[in-house]
Amino acid sequence: MKAGIHLSMALWVFWALASLAYAQESCSVKEQCSECIQTPGCLWCSKPKENSATNSHCVPETSQLVGICDAQHIENPQNSVEVLQNDPLSDVSKDVRQTARIIQLAPQRLKLKLRKGKTQHIRVTYRQVKDYPVDLYYLMDLSNSMLDDKENLAKLGSRLADTMRNLTTQFKLGFGSFVDKVMMPFADTAEEKLQRPCSGCAPPYSYRNDLPLDSDPSKFTEKVLSAPISGNMDAPEGGFDALMQVMVCKEQIGWRDTVRRIIVFSTDAKFHHAGDGRLAGIVQPNDEQCHLDEHGVYNDFDKYDYPSVAQINKIAQREEINVIFAVSGYPDLYESLSKMIEASSFGVLDANSANVVELVKEQYEKITSKIKLSDNLTDTSPVTISYSSKCHGTQDVATNECGDMKEGSEVVFDLDVTAIECPADGKPFYIEVKTLQDKLILEVEFDCNCGCETTDRVDNTTDCHNQGALVCGVCSCYPGYRGDRCQCSTSEFHEFNEDESQCIMPGDSYACSNQGYCSCGTCVCDSPDFVDGKYCQCNRRLCSNGNSKECYGHGTCECGKCKCKPGYEGQFCECEDDSKCRELGKQEVCSGHGECKCGKCRCTQSDNVHYSGQYCEDCQSCSTGKCSKFRDCVQCQHFGTGVLGKTEECNKCEIKPQPVDFLDDKILNNARLCTFEDTDTGCYFNFTYLYMDKGKYSIYVLREQQCPEPAPVLGIVFGLVAAIVAIGLLTLLIWKLLTTIHDRREYAKFEDERRKAQWNTDGQPSLPACNQHI
Ligand SMILES: *[C@@H]1O[C@H](CO)[C@@H](O)[C@H](O)[C@H]1NC(C)=O
Ligand SMILES: *[C@@H]1O[C@H](CO)[C@@H](O)[C@H](O)[C@H]1NC(C)=O
Ligand SMILES: *[C@@H]1O[C@H](CO)[C@@H](O)[C@H](O)[C@H]1NC(C)=O
Ligand SMILES: *[C@@H]1O[C@H](CO)[C@@H](O)[C@H](O)[C@H]1NC(C)=O
Repeated sequence: MKAGIHLSMALWVFWALASLAYAQESCSVKEQCSECIQTPGCLWCSKPKENSATNSHCVPETSQLVGICDAQHIENPQNSVEVLQNDPLSDVSKDVRQTARIIQLAPQRLKLKLRKGKTQHIRVTYRQVKDYPVDLYYLMDLSNSMLDDKENLAKLGSRLADTMRNLTTQFKLGFGSFVDKVMMPFADTAEEKLQRPCSGCAPPYSYRNDLPLDSDPSKFTEKVLSAPISGNMDAPEGGFDALMQVMVCKEQIGWRDTVRRIIVFSTDAKFHHAGDGRLAGIVQPNDEQCHLDEHGVYNDFDKYDYPSVAQINKIAQREEINVIFAVSGYPDLYESLSKMIEASSFGVLDANSANVVELVKEQYEKITSKIKLSDNLTDTSPVTISYSSKCHGTQDVATNECGDMKEGSEVVFDLDVTAIECPADGKPFYIEVKTLQDKLILEVEFDCNCGCETTDRVDNTTDCHNQGALVCGVCSCYPGYRGDRCQCSTSEFHEFNEDESQCIMPGDSYACSNQGYCSCGTCVCDSPDFVDGKYCQCNRRLCSNGNSKECYGHGTCECGKCKCKPGYEGQFCECEDDSKCRELGKQEVCSGHGECKCGKCRCTQSDNVHYSGQYCEDCQSCSTGKCSKFRDCVQCQHFGTGVLGKTEECNKCEIKPQPVDFLDDKILNNARLCTFEDTDTGCYFNFTYLYMDKGKYSIYVLREQQCPEPAPVLGIVFGLVAAIVAIGLLTLLIWKLLTTIHDRREYAKFEDERRKAQWNTDGQPSLPACNQHI
C-alpha cells in the first residue's frame, strides 16, 4: 500500500518535472510579452527575481508556484465571460400566444474574452416550447397525372389543418402549384396546345402562388379545388423552379419570422435541374432571386435555368426551411435527393394522396423531435467550438444533436470554445450558435496583447542605451536600433570579430547552427522561410510531408515540430484524433479490440478472432461476440429454453427482442444474423441485431424455430422394399423375355427343319442332311 503511494508520488513528480521541462523549452524562446502569452501554458514576468534560475521573462505557468516572480510583475491573462443577454426561456405551461417572443435557447448573447489556446466552457439550455408556430406551404405538381391527388388534397385540406392545429395553435397553410417552363421541349408551344395542352386542361405555367400562407383552412380547400390541372410535354417537371421561388419570395409567400417553416413538395414525376435549361437555350444559371409578378406567377422562367440541388440545399439552409418530399413516384430518386438537402425528409404518398395527412404529421414529428446546435464557423476561423450533451441520459456524449424532444423537454449543451489564433486586425469576432429559429451570439475578443505594453513602459531609458523603450521588462528598440539592449544600429553589418558567444546554441559549436550569421548577439538566418529559431536551429521543412501544406493546415510549426490544433494528431497533424474511434458515450478506443489509426479503427485480427465494425464492436466468431451475448436472453424470452430457461434471470435481460414472422430484407439490411441450435428442442432459431445509438441494439427474433425434418423411416423401408420388388420383377421380366426369344428361335428352327423334312418327303424323298452322317 505504502509502496504504491510512493510510486505514484514519484511518478507524479516525474510527470510534473517532465512537463515543466517541455513547457520551459517552448516558453523560454519567446522574447516578447505578447508572443509569450499567445503560447498556451506560458506566463510573462516583467521582472524576474534576482536569485531565480531563469534568464528568460517567459516561463511556464507552473513556475508561478516556485516563486520566480512577484505577482505585480506577472502577465498571465485568463478567459472571461460576460453575459450580455439572458432572457428566460418561454414557459411551457403558459399559453405562448400571449408571449410576444418565444425563447427556446438561453443565454442569447455572451461576450467572451479568450486567450489563445485556453478553452472556455459555456453552457446553453434549450427548451422545446409547446405550440411552436408552423408555416406549411403545400407545393403541388398540377400536371395532368395529379388530377386525383388534387381532388383528395382538397378534401383532406381541412383535416390537415385540424391535425396541425392539434400540434400547434399558430398554424398557417399555403398552396402553390407548378407545371414546367412553357418552352419547347418542356411544354408544347403549338398555338392550340398552349391554350389547351390536354382535354379539360388550363394553359401551362411554370409556378403560381395560389394561396399565400393563411390561417383559414377553408381558403386552402377552395384554392386547391379551383386550381386547374394543366399539362406539359416531357416526363420530368419544373418543380425546382417553383421550390426556389417559394423559398426566396419571403413576402409574397408570407413566411413569418420565428416559425418552423415546412414545404411539402408533392409530385409523381422526376424533376428538371440545373443544366436542363440548355435544351431550351437558357444558359444563365438560376439567380436565387424572387421573380413573382403581382399575380404571384413566375414569369422569368425563360431567363434563368433550373436551380441545382446544391442551390436548393443552400437556400433551404439559409431560410431554415424543412422540405418534405411527398411523392407518389420515383421514391428512390426522392429519397436520395432528400439526403442531399439538409433538414429535408421524404415519404411516399398513396397513388391518390389519401395518406397525406398522416405523412405530414409523421414527418412533422420527426422534424420537431430533433434539436441540433450548429455554428457558422469555418475551417479558417480563429475559434473552434466543441459540443457535448447528456441529452436525456446520464452520460456526457460528444454531440451537437439530441433526439426524443417533446414539447416541454429541456436539454443542456456544453460548449468548449477555444481561440486557436490571434487575428491580426484584433477586431472582435462574432459567432452564431443556432438551432432552427433561436440563436446565441458569441462576441469573442482575443486577449493577445499584454497589459504591461502600455502600463509598464519607460521610454528612452539608459537600460536600452537611450535607443529604445523598456517595455514589460525588455527593450523595444527605436527604429534604426537593435540588440537586446538596443546596443547596435541596424546600419552596422555583421563584423567578423564580433562576440558570437550569444549566437551559439548550448551544446553546439557553430554560431547560428551554421545556417545564418551572428549580428549584434542575434542570429540572422540564411533562408528564413525554411529555417527559424533563436539559433536558426529549426528546420521548417520537417513540418511538411512532401508537398503537403505545413502541418496539413491543422497546426503550427514550432521548431520543426507540428503542434496540432485540438482534434488532430500525427507527426504532420495529418490525422484526426481518436474521438472518431470511440463509440458514442464510451471511453474505450475501438471498444478495446483494436488500434485507432488516423481516426479509423484497425481491429484485432488473429487466427480465430475477427473483430469488425466501425468501432470494432462486433465479433461474430468469438464467444464474447454479440450473437453469443444476446443468445441466452433471446432464447429464454422467446422460447423459454436454454441456460436461463424460465428462471428469474431471464427477466433481468436488458434487451427486448421483437418477434417477427420473417426476417425480411428491411430487417437484415446492415443487421447481423445469428443462428443457434436450441439444444432443448433440437431445433434452430435465428435472430438479428443492429447497433442503434447510445449503446442500444434493436433485435428481431424469428418467431418460429426451424426444426430439421424428421427422417422418413417408413418411406425408406417402403422404398427399399419397392425397389427390391421392382428389381426382382425386372429380372424376372428379362429372364422371361430372353427365354421367350430363345424358345421362339428354337421353335422357328424346329418348324424350319420340319418343313424341310416335309419338302424332302414330298419331292425327292431323302434323309435330312444331319442324318446323312449317321
Ligand atoms: C385533436 O386532438 C384531439 C384530442 O387530443 C382528438 O380527439 C382529435 O381527434 C384530434 N384531431 C385530429 C384532426 O387529429
Ligand atoms: C456568423 O454570424 C455572425 C452573427 O450573425 C456574423 O456577424 C458573422 O459574420 C458570421 N460569421 C461568418 C463566418 O459567417
Ligand atoms: C533620449 O535621451 C537622450 C539623453 O537624455 C537624448 O539625447 C535623446 O535625444 C533622447 N532621444 C529620444 C528619441 O527621445
Ligand atoms: C436462419 O439462418 C440460417 C443460417 O444462418 C439460414 O440458412 C436460414 O435460412 C435462416 N432461416 C430463416 C427462416 O431465415
